[in-house]
Amino acid sequence: MSSTNSLRPLPCRTGLFIGVRESIAYLRDPDGFIAERHQQFGPVFGTTLFFRPTAVVGGPDAVEQFIDLESSISESALPAAFTALHTADGALNQAGETHRSTRRGYSALFSPSNLESYLPEINRCMVQFTSSIAQRGSTCIALDAKHLCLNLYAELFAGESLTKDEIEAFISYNDALLSLSKQLPSFRKGEKALAALQQSMQVRLGKYRRGELDGACFRIFTANLDEHGQPWSDERIATATVLMVWGAYIEVASLMASCLIQTRHRLDVRDQVLKMARDHNLVNSETPGHLADWDLPFVQGVLRESLRLIPPAGGGFRMTSEDIDISGYRIPAGTVVTADPRIGNAMSALFPEPQSFAPERWMRERDIKLNLKDGASCPFAGSALRLPKEGWFPGGIGKHGCPGLPLAELSVRIFLVRWMQAIQHWEGDSEHTKSIPYTLVPIRIPTDSYRLNVVPAPRDAP
Ligand code: HEM
Repeated sequence: MSSTNSLRPLPCRTGLFIGVRESIAYLRDPDGFIAERHQQFGPVFGTTLFFRPTAVVGGPDAVEQFIDLESSISESALPAAFTALHTADGALNQAGETHRSTRRGYSALFSPSNLESYLPEINRCMVQFTSSIAQRGSTCIALDAKHLCLNLYAELFAGESLTKDEIEAFISYNDALLSLSKQLPSFRKGEKALAALQQSMQVRLGKYRRGELDGACFRIFTANLDEHGQPWSDERIATATVLMVWGAYIEVASLMASCLIQTRHRLDVRDQVLKMARDHNLVNSETPGHLADWDLPFVQGVLRESLRLIPPAGGGFRMTSEDIDISGYRIPAGTVVTADPRIGNAMSALFPEPQSFAPERWMRERDIKLNLKDGASCPFAGSALRLPKEGWFPGGIGKHGCPGLPLAELSVRIFLVRWMQAIQHWEGDSEHTKSIPYTLVPIRIPTDSYRLNVVPAPRDAP
C-alpha cells in the first residue's frame, strides 16, 4: 500500500446537511450534478451519493489508476435497495472467484455464434415494431420500446414473450432499484415483482427441460458449474434469467429513444443510414442477414454518439478496502468509488467539440469515403476509435464492465435501419418541443408520456 498521508483530500462541496443535499441533488439531475462538479473541481472529486461518502473518478488518467487499484476497490457498494433486489446471484453484487465464475457462466450468451443466432428474432421484432408505428402515426417511444425489448429479450433468453403482468413486474422491479429506503412501498412492490418473476422463469425453465421451449439462458445456464464445481440450481438459473432480461431491456430501450431524439432534426442521418443498408444488402426487411452484414460504421457512430451525449447512467459503485491514492488525492478506506463515464464523454481532449453529435468520429476515414453519400469530411473523423479503453466505457469498466454491450449495439443498429426504412420523419409532439421529460433513475429514459409523431416512408422507399 502506498503512503497516502501526504496526499490532498478530495475536493468537495461543504456546508450544513451537505450529505443529504448532495444525495438529493444527484437524484434530481444526475448528469447535471456530475457536469457541474467536474467543472468546479476537475475530473476527480468527493461527494455524498445515496448518503454515503463517495469518490467520483473520471478522465482517462484517473480511470487508469482506478483499474490498477481495482483489487483494493472490489467490494460491491450498490445502494441498499439495489443490493437487495439484485440478489446474491447478481454479478454486480459479487466479487472474487464467485464473480469470475458467474462471468464465465454468462460469456457464451454473447459469443459471436449466439449473437448470429439472435439475428432473425431481433430483425423480426424490429421490423414489426417500426412498421406498426409507421401505421399508427405516433409512438410513446420509451413505453413502446420498453415493451418491445422486454418481449424480445424474454423470447431470446427464456423462450417466450411476457404476459402483461410479467411486463408490469419488470417495470416495478426496475423502478424500485434505487428506492431511498427499504421501508418504502416502492421497494416492497419491487420485492414482490422479483419473486413473481423468479417464479415465472422457473415455470419456463420447467418447460425448457420438457423440450417445450428453447431459451439461450436456459441452454447455457443449465450447463454451468459454480466456483465449487456444482451445477447452478434452478433458483439461480431463474434469477439470473430475470436479471439478464432486466439488464438488457431498460438499457436498450433507453438507447433506442436517445438515438431518435438525437437525430430527429438530422435529415442527413436517415439518408446515410439508408445508403449504408443498401450497400450491405439489408434492403429486404425479411432477410436478417449475417452478423458481418450488420457491421455498419455510420449506424454504429449514430448510436455511440447518442450513448455519449445522453448516457443512460453512470458507472458502478465499489468500496475501497484500504486507503488509496488517485490523481494525488487520498481516498480513505470505506469510501464508495465510482468510475464515471460521463466525465470523459464531455472532455474535448477525448472528444473534440464534445457537444457536437458527430457519428464520423467513430468511423475510419476509409469508411467515410466509401460509405458516406457526399464523403463529408470531418476534422476529427476516426478520433474516438483511437481512444484507450479508459476514454470510452459506457458499460462501466474493469471486472464488472458490461458483457451485454455488443448485443445492445447490434439490436440498436438493426432498430435504426428498420426505423429509417419505415419512417421518413419524426418529431416530438408540441407539448414537449422545449424540453423532453425524463425519468432519471436508475436509468435515464424519457417518461412514458413522451410521444413522437411520425411520417411513414413512401411505399417504394428503399
Ligand atoms: C447500451 C446498453 C447498455 C449499457 C449502457 C449498459 C451499462 C452497464 C453498466 C454501467 C454496468 C455496470 C458496470 C459496473 O458496475 O462497473 C453493466 C453491467 C452489466 N450489464 Fe450492461 N449495459 C447495457 C446493455 C446490457 C445488455 C443488453 C445486457 C444483457 C443482455 C447487459 C448485461 C449486463 C450484466 C450481466 C452486467 C453485470 C456485469 C458484472 O457485474 O460483471 N447489459 N451494464
